[in-house]
Amino acid sequence: MKLITCCSFKGGAGKTTALMGLCAAYASIGRRVALFEADNNRPLTRWKDNALRSNAWDPRCEIFVADEMSLLEAAYEGAERQASTMH
Ligand SMILES: Nc1ncnc2c1ncn2[C@@H]1O[C@H](COP(=O)(O)OP(=O)(O)OP(=O)(O)O)[C@@H](O)[C@H]1O
Ligand SMILES: [Mg+2]
Repeated sequence: MKLITCCSFKGGAGKTTALMGLCAAYASIGRRVALFEADNNRPLTRWKDNALRSNAWDPRCEIFVADEMSLLEAAYEGAERQASTMH
């Protein structure tokens, strides 16, 4: 599993927008994407909820809420386990 991180000390730099674009691009070429949500405002979860409402969410993308390091590690391991059972 490849790990891509969008991070910046500056707010509103476009991290979430870049992640959404990357996610959509990978899903469109058939890749499975695990999104790790580490923002308390849950922008990725809101994105998914909106997409589900208009029937536009690609089931190849999965969101794991992980706003603490221990949760992030557990989410990463969970995503890897899921990926390894897909092949
Ligand atoms: N729905 C929207 N409508 C209009 N402008 C938006 C919308 N969502 C984000 N923006 C603007 O687009 C820019 C990039 O937003 P984005 O959420 O991708 O940045 P970010 O780096 O993830 O921000 P944060 O530090 O708050 O997580 C910001 O200037 C933001 O105000
Ligand atoms: Mg953001």
